[in-house]
Formats: sequence, structure tokens, C-alpha cells
Amino acid sequence: METIRVDLSEREYDVLVGTGTLGRIGSFLEKADRIAVIADERVAGIHGEKLERALAGAGRRKTAWLNVPAGEACKTLEWFGRTQQFLLEAGCTRQSLVIAFGGGACGDLAGFAAACYMRGIDFIQCPTTILAHDSSVGGKTGINLPGGKNMTGAFHQPAAVLYDTDLLKTLPAEEIRSGMAEAVKHQLISPSGNAGEMLSELNYGDMDEQTLLQYIVRGIQVKAEIVSQDEREGSVRKYLNFGHTYGHAVEAAAGYGGLTHGESVMIGMLYALILSERLAGADRSVTDALQHFAERNGYPLKAAADFPFSELFAYMKKDKKASFGELQFVLLPETGRPEIGKAEEEDCREADEELRKRLGVQP
Ligand SMILES: NC(=O)c1ccc[n+]([C@@H]2O[C@H](COP(=O)([O-])OP(=O)(O)OC[C@H]3O[C@@H](n4cnc5c(N)ncnc54)[C@H](O)[C@@H]3O)[C@@H](O)[C@H]2O)c1
Ligand SMILES: [Zn+2]
Repeated sequence: METIRVDLSEREYDVLVGTGTLGRIGSFLEKADRIAVIADERVAGIHGEKLERALAGAGRRKTAWLNVPAGEACKTLEWFGRTQQFLLEAGCTRQSLVIAFGGGACGDLAGFAAACYMRGIDFIQCPTTILAHDSSVGGKTGINLPGGKNMTGAFHQPAAVLYDTDLLKTLPAEEIRSGMAEAVKHQLISPSGNAGEMLSELNYGDMDEQTLLQYIVRGIQVKAEIVSQDEREGSVRKYLNFGHTYGHAVEAAAGYGGLTHGESVMIGMLYALILSERLAGADRSVTDALQHFAERNGYPLKAAADFPFSELFAYMKKDKKASFGELQFVLLPETGRPEIGKAEEEDCREADEELRKRLGVQP
């Protein structure tokens, strides 16, 4: 088991990663007068007993439990409302503890539920997807509005993250691709990353547990380092948005759920690298390496071609990072050295054409 400390100015917490981590939950429950689990219903069906057993082993047999719809469908105002009512009916007080049990979607909802109930109570993240190595660390919580993803939310850091990698064995292939895309992102943007080796050698089909653990731990370390420098995204935290401007546009155009978040981000990272070649002198070899890696590992890259540039550009302009009317991108002149750069519509259009050409689809 590995422990990664997230060190913030006002508080710090640990991320415990590895096999059997749920068994450690007891030491995080001592101060809680009540425990309320908010679980992704699919995850509860597959792995719920493991969490129940861990809680019972810690002498916490009586916990309140709310299952919420699997995946993104739980991040609604309606389900947010239900979590608040659930916590109230469970008799939760300021001393109670919420446990989030599921992927990034459930973690975002449960974290936001904890952030709001009685103006904020403690919560623990028990992530169950690879992607959640990213989402469970850093304290961003929230839900979607009918017109926009993650538009309502709060910064609320967890008291701890218990990441039991045994639970990852039941993930479907597209969720492995999704989560690993963020692991690739972390390697690409980190000065101490080893993206070259990952891109040339890693095949998800024969990735063993140890290798997966290593990439997850590395990803969490990068996220923890960045968040501890800039909790509220005033500066370096923006680098975590690498690949997300175009990626979010593709994800939105496909309709949420059409492509997974990480699959869209993979397309977005290719786009951001092409932009970096044009605007920041990046070497084409990195873009090529990422493209080969993504093709080898089954990313549906050509999905970008289903949508005209004009549609994707409209989404990009709405992106939260397009501040003061300027389109900003995280560019990568060299691996490990991200920077923020401005792009004009023409740059964006040309990069889009270039991406389609390289993917072998008609611009
Ligand atoms: N807060 C942040 O900093 C942050 C960062 C990145 C992403 N996110 C959010 O995370 C969400 C995506 O999270 P995600 O990719 O983890 O997907 P998810 O939570 O939507 O889960 C994807 C699917 O996998 C299933 N699943 C989860 N764990 C499983 C397991 N162990 N075995 C089998 N099936 C399992 C779920 O039921 C769901 O159907 C998005 O809403 C995104 O906005 C948040
Ligand atoms: Zn992401």
C-alpha cells in the first residue's frame, strides 16, 4: 500500500492506494457520530458487501446508505436534493461523515452533498474507477445543470481518500481507457513524468496490477503536487486542463455518455499537441507517439470527425477557461513543461483540420 500526502495551506490529508485499502477505514471513522454512505448503485451491487464488511469490521454496523444512479446520471439537482434529505433523515449532524463509494460522478455528487449539508461536513472518498485517481483528489465537487456540466459545485476537500485497487478489476474496457487517459495526461504535464516510456511500451491488454498501481500512484502524486501549489485554480492547477478544451467539446457534442470523459480527453490531448506544434514550437514526435499509443489501445479517435468544427468551436468558446473572450489552451512545448497560450479561431480551425487529416478522416 502507498500513502500520498496532499498538503494544503489549511489542512492536509492522505490518499491510501493499494490492495485491501478499504480494510483501513476504521481509523478514519473514530470521530464520526454517524456514517452515511452515498454509493453508485452499480458499484454497490458489485462491491457493496466489501464496504459493509469493512465498516462492520470497524464496529460500524449501523450506517445509513443511499444508492444513486450509476455514473453521470446522479449528478443532477434532483439527486443532490435527495442526498440532503437523506442526510437529514439519517440524523446526520456536523460531526457525521459521508462516504463516497463509486467513480468520479458519485464522488462529485457525494462530495458536494457533504460540502452543503449543514454548511459542510466531513467526507471520505472511496474511488472505484481509474479515472477517480484524478477526481477524488483535489476537492472539486459538484453536479451538472441542464445547460452545463459541473456548473454548480464547491471546493470541499475530503478528510481522506481510500483507494482500494482490488475494486478496479471489474471495470469495463472503456472505463479503463477513460481513466488511463488522465494517467497519460499526468505523465505528460509533469516535469518528473516518464511519458516517453509509457507511450512506447504500455498496452492496456497486458497491463499487470503492479504497473497499473504505479501509474495510479504517479498520477495522484502529480495531482497532489499541483493542487498543493494552487488549490483554487489561480495558476498551475490550470495545467490539469491539458486536453480538456477540445476534449470537453467532443464529449458535449457526442452527448454525455456517448464517449467517456477520458476517451474525449485523449482526442483533446492530440488536438492540444497539434496546437502546441503550431503555437509553441512543440516537436511532432510527441504527437505521433500519443497518436500511436491511443490507436494501439483502442481509443475511438475518429469520433471527433462526427462533428463539424463549427459545432466543436461553439462548445470551446463556452468553456470555462475561455476567459475574457479569449480562447486559452494548455500548450505543451515540451513534455513536462505546460504553459497557457492564447489561440485565435483560425489557429483552432487549422489544428482541427490537421487532426482530421492525421486521423485519416476528411476535414
Ligand atoms: N472533481 C474532479 O476533480 C473531477 C476530475 C475529473 C473528472 N470528474 C468527474 O468524474 C466523472 C467521471 O468519473 P468516472 O470516469 O469515474 O466515471 P463514473 O463515475 O461516471 O463511472 C463510470 C461507470 O463505471 C461504473 N463503475 C464504477 N466503478 C466500477 C467498478 N469498480 N466496476 C465496474 N463498474 C464500475 C459506474 O457505475 C458507471 O457506470 C465526471 O462526472 C467528471 O466530471 C471530476
Ligand atoms: Zn478530466
